[in-house]
Amino acid sequence: MSSVLQKLITPQASSSSDPPRNKVTVVGVGQVGMACAVSILLRDLCDELALVDVMEDRLKGEMMDLQHGSLFLKTSKIVADKDYSVTANSRLVVVTAGVRQQEGESRLNLVQRNVNVFKSIVPQIVKYSPDCTIIVVSNPVDVLTYVTWKLSGLPKHRVIGSGTNLDSARFRYMMAERLGIHASSFNGWVLGEHGDTSVPVWSGANVAGVNLQTLNPDIGTDADKEQWKATHKAVVDSAYEVIRLKGYTNWAIGLSVADLTESIVKNLSRVHPVSTMVKDKYGINEEVFLSLPCVLNSSGVCSVINMTLTDAEVGQLKKSADTLWAFLSTVTNAVAHGELRRRKL
Ligand SMILES: NC(=O)c1ccc[n+]([C@@H]2O[C@H](COP(=O)([O-])OP(=O)(O)OC[C@H]3O[C@@H](n4cnc5c(N)ncnc54)[C@H](O)[C@@H]3O)[C@@H](O)[C@H]2O)c1
Repeated sequence: MSSVLQKLITPQASSSSDPPRNKVTVVGVGQVGMACAVSILLRDLCDELALVDVMEDRLKGEMMDLQHGSLFLKTSKIVADKDYSVTANSRLVVVTAGVRQQEGESRLNLVQRNVNVFKSIVPQIVKYSPDCTIIVVSNPVDVLTYVTWKLSGLPKHRVIGSGTNLDSARFRYMMAERLGIHASSFNGWVLGEHGDTSVPVWSGANVAGVNLQTLNPDIGTDADKEQWKATHKAVVDSAYEVIRLKGYTNWAIGLSVADLTESIVKNLSRVHPVSTMVKDKYGINEEVFLSLPCVLNSSGVCSVINMTLTDAEVGQLKKSADTLWAFLSTVTNAVAHGELRRRKL
């Protein structure tokens, strides 16, 4: 110990070697990973943040840059390594690693490349944090959440896809803009697949409990003279638009992941539209992950809200499930040959 240290500080107890209580790991320090990391840090959601990536220089650079902001944060430890031992004892792991969606590329086209990436990531996560909850963000998120569930051996309530949490946030923002109110005051849900076949629940859209469908029975349909349906189309198109304009999307997804993180690490039991295993719900017979309103707390997805949906909305959800199941069948070969742990649902 240096003499300055010896003279300055008189130890009263041995330094704590207790494991962190709220350690969060972010895998992938690209645009999305760093937006998640910064959003989580700014909301004081972890006592330790670990970062992992395969690009060592970038990883170290991001770690150092964040550490240099320690004065302005309340997270005492920020660590990074390409070796997953750095993630040990994580309570929550956010996976953003993977190949980025290119301009005009459908999310489903990304899957094969990202399945291979996940095979190298997921077993390492559970090796060092066997009791963690995983939030999958990488696209196609519903497919990769299924892949993560299979590769991890974790119970289904501990594997969550960010799903339509972002689509719903975009929907609430755009609807609220049209109504001249704040996004938090427009209550609306987008369920199903994150992206192209997502399902806006027009039957439940309301402001202060006033159901918009009672004011305009055609809302969300082609017959609607006010064409509110265009708002949901804008939600679907908006990711492609932002990617066209700036090359990627990151801020909104980062903020939305921090919101999910808060519900989990603070055990809040708030309801979020996230991707969960939907077999046996709404007549869906397959093991697919789709977004439904889920109660998130320290258990992960502690329960699912049985939303009252119209027949048309249930039909759209089933269509989402069919699209995903058909797609999953095409990737089954890539993930099924002995690499998926079999376990109870
Ligand atoms: N779910 C959503 O709502 C949503 C929104 C935006 C983006 N995304 C998805 O998030 C993912 C990341 O997007 P991005 O813009 O940050 O991409 P990016 O290219 O900026 O970053 C990806 C990072 O993953 C890392 N990586 C690749 N292979 C890895 C491995 N085996 N282990 C660890 N790290 C690895 C790369 O080195 C890179 O740093 C994409 O799949 C994108 O489509 C999802």
